[in-house]
Amino acid sequence: MELKNKVAIVTGGSVGIGRAIVGKLVSEGATVVIADINLESANLAVSEILKGGGNAFAVKADVSNSSDVANMADQTFAKYSRIDILVNNAGIRFINPLLEQTEEEWRRTLDVNLTAPFLCCKAVIPYMLKNGKGKIVNISSVAGLFGRPERVAYCASKGGEIAFTKAAALDMRGKNIYINAVAPALIDTPLNSGFAADNELAAVWGKENNVGRWGKPSEVADAVFFLCSNSSDFISGTVLTVDGGWTSAMVRATEG
Ligand SMILES: NC(=O)c1ccc[n+]([C@@H]2O[C@H](COP(=O)([O-])OP(=O)(O)OC[C@H]3O[C@@H](n4cnc5c(N)ncnc54)[C@H](O)[C@@H]3O)[C@@H](O)[C@H]2O)c1
Repeated sequence: MELKNKVAIVTGGSVGIGRAIVGKLVSEGATVVIADINLESANLAVSEILKGGGNAFAVKADVSNSSDVANMADQTFAKYSRIDILVNNAGIRFINPLLEQTEEEWRRTLDVNLTAPFLCCKAVIPYMLKNGKGKIVNISSVAGLFGRPERVAYCASKGGEIAFTKAAALDMRGKNIYINAVAPALIDTPLNSGFAADNELAAVWGKENNVGRWGKPSEVADAVFFLCSNSSDFISGTVLTVDGGWTSAMVRATEG
């Protein structure tokens, strides 16, 4: 129960990786606010957590909208009088080659995946400073470290999120606010359900990393928990890959 008495906000916490993060933080004693564009799905997650004896609350928020984000932070503080942890997890992806990626897709991807973490940090950090400490984890992707085909907007947003993490961590130096990123790959979530359903493709992709399988949302949640705990107090502005070694495998491939 390392996070007992801590209050966390997890964006996009209703399903997939976000839901696993919510479950892990709750199991470690935190009270978790799920901020999601899909309130019905967030409420469903909250009722599961309450049934299991945990403490959670749902707020409807499109995290790309600054007034929704302000409401998310203000409501959390009004209800629990503190905010200790922020996990910027909500994310979207449109798969299209460069010449077919629309301007609308590009702008929406950048809004949700990159502008939203900026807005959430701006809204939440003033409350963290009142506590004297805060932990922020941005869920980026290995797509922010490498180019991936048919994902220009997604790769740009996730690469931007990594650069944002490093620069924001620097601006928080000496303030006891820790900002880090996690870069997962190939996790079995609703975002990837189309690929996971294609048995042949799913098997090939599973063999691309060193572990030889897809990752589980709970395995990303474990890494996020570490970055939210006191055990990571000398870690700031870093990117932790949770990818079964996929990124190291890419380096091997280029070496022939
Ligand atoms: N699944 C993977 O393999 C993988 C790999 C690398 C990175 N990621 C990243 O992890 C994060 C979670 O991915 P996932 O696979 O669980 O996705 P998912 O699509 O399964 O779930 C995303 C959640 O975010 C919510 N959401 C979407 N847009 C939102 C918005 N504007 N405001 C608030 N909530 C919003 C959705 O309602 C949903 O609850 C994303 O940032 C994604 O880019 C996923």
